[in-house]
Amino acid sequence: MSTDRLAILGGRPEYSEPLHVGQLYAPPWDEFKDQFDGIFRRRYFTNHGPLVSQLEKDLSEFLNCQAICVTNGTLGLMVALKSLGLSGKVIVPSFTFPATVQALYWAGIEPVFCDVDYDTHAISAEHISPLITEEVTGILYVSLWGGLADTTDIERLAENHSLKLLHDACHAFAASYAKRSSAQIGDVSVFSLHATKILNGLEGGIIATSNHEVADQVRTIRNFHSSHTHAAVPLRINAKMSEAQAGMALLSLTRVRKNVENNLLQWQTFYRNLNDIPGIKIYRYDEQCSGNYQYFNFEIDDVRFGLTRDMLLQCLQSEGIAARRYFSPGVHNLSPYDVLFPQYANTLPNTDKLCLRTLQLPIGAMCTIDTADRISRLIRMAHDDAHLVKNQLAEMP
Ligand SMILES: Cc1ncc(COP(=O)(O)O)c(C=O)c1O
Repeated sequence: MSTDRLAILGGRPEYSEPLHVGQLYAPPWDEFKDQFDGIFRRRYFTNHGPLVSQLEKDLSEFLNCQAICVTNGTLGLMVALKSLGLSGKVIVPSFTFPATVQALYWAGIEPVFCDVDYDTHAISAEHISPLITEEVTGILYVSLWGGLADTTDIERLAENHSLKLLHDACHAFAASYAKRSSAQIGDVSVFSLHATKILNGLEGGIIATSNHEVADQVRTIRNFHSSHTHAAVPLRINAKMSEAQAGMALLSLTRVRKNVENNLLQWQTFYRNLNDIPGIKIYRYDEQCSGNYQYFNFEIDDVRFGLTRDMLLQCLQSEGIAARRYFSPGVHNLSPYDVLFPQYANTLPNTDKLCLRTLQLPIGAMCTIDTADRISRLIRMAHDDAHLVKNQLAEMP
């Protein structure tokens, strides 16, 4: 039951249990149990078992390239970086999840932080060009919020400068741009199958490529010793996916299209409800993009809205809504990168501004159109009662 007063002003919280961001899809328990019965019957728990093989086959068809499963998206990025022979420095956005940059640093590569375009939230050829030097061997491009932007200029730039292009597509499974799949951008794309993602493998990752040599390298690097391929590789690691992960991901894959449709309905509801509120700017997908709509991201202009992003976040949290500040701060301002690379402080204006203003709302399998309506209503109330909320927050310890 909705109240007429915000919880922060003394009303009853909208939700008694926290409502989280992320897809959080769970298949019917019976189906999951069947997968586990099979795993126990076969006593085949890991090491490229039948469920992982089936998943790789299904994903290769879905993505129309070679799909190689790994433990998680972070290890996927680390293995992909090595398979592409990247070294020295790589250009990367700071407006991303820390794992993107952590993978680089683990692979012994220095990040060259690049500002993003303010509207697409992605790095652009214009921002990348001035950062290309002799030491730069590649670009680590990140697609955010379950969508894709136009990457043709960046692909041309990479080709002209003989740079490898690695695509962090951890958010972008089942997304396409001008009918081109997210797996077909750059030399390699990496997806995450974390439980919050559109394809849930509990944890998990996919390395997708159309290059057979790179695929051979990936298969060899992800396995600490023997493997079916004999590619000469610089180093190896255990990045295998388990049968339990694959069993879950196979079930999730059958519902991906349905979950995308469901997300889109929720996304549209938020859009309709919030678009006319002063000071709110909703992240828009490009017209040519077909996304998975797993993220509802918007920006708050505090002067026009009446509250800062962080004040609105406090309001929503007191209602039991676990909205998130994705991403704040930018990775260049996070430890250890702020100390290792202090030269980037105050040089990425779009990143710094977005990090202060953006907020992510719950959307996905745990939510409905009704949830989107209820959250939107509270955001409108926060705008209408902004002066009361501000006074209340000023009095809080
Ligand atoms: C943009 C981005 N890159 C990389 C990762 C790492 O993926 P994983 O959690 O599967 O390691 C994430 C995880 O959320 C992410 O959002």
